[in-house]
Amino acid sequence: MINLLQKLTTKEKIGQLLQIAPFFFIKDLEKEVYGPLLDLQLNEEKIFLAGSVLGIGSATEMMEVQKQYLKKSKHQIPLLFMADIIHGYKTIFPVPLALASSWNPELVKKAARISAVEASTAGIHVTFAPMADLSRDPRWGRVVEGFGEDPYLTGVMAQSMVEGFQNDGIEKDGNLAACVKHFAGYGASEAGRDYNTVDVSRYALHNYYFEGYKKAIDAGAKLIMTAFNVIEGVPSTTNRFLLRDILRDQWKFKGVTISDYDSLKQTIAHGQAKDMEEAALNGIDAGLDIEMASSCYTNHLEKLIVSGQVDMKLLDEAVLRILELKKEIGLFENPYKGASLEQEEKLVLSKKHLAESLKVAHESAVLLKNEDVLPLDKQTKVALIGPFASSRKTQGSWSWHGRHENNQTLIEVFNLEKADVVYINDEVDALKYTKKDLEQLKTADVILVLVGEDEKWSGEAHSLSDLHLRDGQHLLVELAKSLNKKVVTVLFNGRPLVLTNISQSDAILEAWFLGTRSAQAVYDLLYGRVNPSGKLTMSFPVNVGQIPIYYNHLNTGRPLEFAENPNTYVSRYLDVGNDPLYPFGYGLSYSKFSYDPLELNSTTLQKEDALEVKVTIQNKSDVDGYEVVQLYIRDHHAKVVRPVQELKQFQKIWIPKRQKRSLTFKLTQTDLSYHLPNGDLVVEPGLFTVMVGSSAHHVEKIQFELKEDN
Ligand code: GLC
Repeated sequence: MINLLQKLTTKEKIGQLLQIAPFFFIKDLEKEVYGPLLDLQLNEEKIFLAGSVLGIGSATEMMEVQKQYLKKSKHQIPLLFMADIIHGYKTIFPVPLALASSWNPELVKKAARISAVEASTAGIHVTFAPMADLSRDPRWGRVVEGFGEDPYLTGVMAQSMVEGFQNDGIEKDGNLAACVKHFAGYGASEAGRDYNTVDVSRYALHNYYFEGYKKAIDAGAKLIMTAFNVIEGVPSTTNRFLLRDILRDQWKFKGVTISDYDSLKQTIAHGQAKDMEEAALNGIDAGLDIEMASSCYTNHLEKLIVSGQVDMKLLDEAVLRILELKKEIGLFENPYKGASLEQEEKLVLSKKHLAESLKVAHESAVLLKNEDVLPLDKQTKVALIGPFASSRKTQGSWSWHGRHENNQTLIEVFNLEKADVVYINDEVDALKYTKKDLEQLKTADVILVLVGEDEKWSGEAHSLSDLHLRDGQHLLVELAKSLNKKVVTVLFNGRPLVLTNISQSDAILEAWFLGTRSAQAVYDLLYGRVNPSGKLTMSFPVNVGQIPIYYNHLNTGRPLEFAENPNTYVSRYLDVGNDPLYPFGYGLSYSKFSYDPLELNSTTLQKEDALEVKVTIQNKSDVDGYEVVQLYIRDHHAKVVRPVQELKQFQKIWIPKRQKRSLTFKLTQTDLSYHLPNGDLVVEPGLFTVMVGSSAHHVEKIQFELKEDN
């Protein structure tokens, strides 16, 4: 690609850094694209020098755009097509927060695989996923797109998605190059308000927030997208510490960096650049390659090069990375790579894909409560009430290629399954129930209350300050309980909610947004055709005042558990406890699992050795089921204090009814290490506790000592 680079003029090089929407290439620039042209100060020459396209929706559209573009391309450098394929293309899978709740990396990889196969038939080459932003704040609407509050799990899930998307090579049809995002620390937006300030220490970045991006890069992600937020007062998009010190120098990342939508230009609003020229200078200096949906580079970089303020070397490096990526994908051989009307017809929304989506949905739901009411049997007379009885809006944000008409409603599935439904009412307002409604409702044995959030209430720019169910939906639970009926509440939402006002429910199933096959999955789980196996990856707070609340917190110098009398000077609230309503790693099953005490092969560990941690789990029920066995550690003394718990390994295992299974985890010093604020990875000898159990709060414990080097 060096030879090609050397043929390019400065204008042609700068064009490769521009990413714009597809309509610029196929609409009448004068009549139909006039406004955006003005906003971006583009003209035909600049448009037809662009390097990549943001968002494409079909093979036909992609082929038309590429054809029109290449007609005017002097060097025949094809456009690269990128899109947000986050949890499905047209077959929609559970939202990523739900995918993570499956604790099944292979399943998550499968979901990404199928998403890539479908999206690539439209000629898409790059997906802006996985989103690996760790978050501890469910007020932030984008928790729906991430994997929760734990660095290790976020890393495992991000790696699984990259492997699923990129599979056996991005040059192969059916595979997508992964662009991990948003680098960095976007999930720490203050007060959970999207795009807000992020102010976290390098200690927190290295030990919590960086893990997901790093594991995605280690898995081979080809691109990384910068975040909207600042880090240490410097916008991520122009942050040399992030883009050069960490990404290039420490992590040896060789791939392409891309801004988020307009985020280079937004460095003016942030108060860093005084104008687009300075934004361009800061961006190329920091190591930003592609500018998405703004035109600082296109309109100002040439002047900076000519004046010598920017070294041509910086531009060449960025352009070369982009050309190399296009070459690796195979675009120079076939500019229409992947786009196929025939494959689109054959593969998209295929029965096989829909069946896989159902399997993933089964394992992504989390049973939060069950007081002897689930599973239902077919003889049970049920009532379905609440807005999600008839809703098709169960695919969550970032699923716009999916169509709601492809999603069944719960009523449709219950009828298809010939369930004994005695009453249906999708009214959201309990106060509208008439005497007649109540008479009919009373004929049910169990009332299913189907409530949650509109899909639009989570996702980008959708933060909430109050996490209770909206529009008085909790009154439906109260109404049902007032009839002395068993009440099962099923939640359809994209974030942890405050559930204290539906605690009268006899059972609560967290169904998130499970995608195209959501309704069938919920039915199968409620009637025991499938045994719930999901576990939370974000804590559910008792109230918003507890936020940020997360399991892997530091102990403080005045921890609550040290206090003889909790009313002394210790770290706690006067009006609510310190614990969440439901903790990280929590989820029930129709099986009953019990853990035997842990066994170690030794109570001391030499650094170069591995400690064997054996645990036996018994299934004391008559129901076969999966259990997610979680292993946590605690490092009791370190130069830089460590969390009271850290997830380090887990296994999801099948345990048949009335049987038991033993697992042996191998703990090595890698599991026991942590990052100093400068990023150095260290491990210190001393006392550790290892914990194994069914959630962060339900564990068997045992201590061991890591010895000094011999
Ligand atoms: C959005 C999002 C980012 C997405 C991009 C392209 O603003 O922040 O996650 O990939 O724009 O749609």
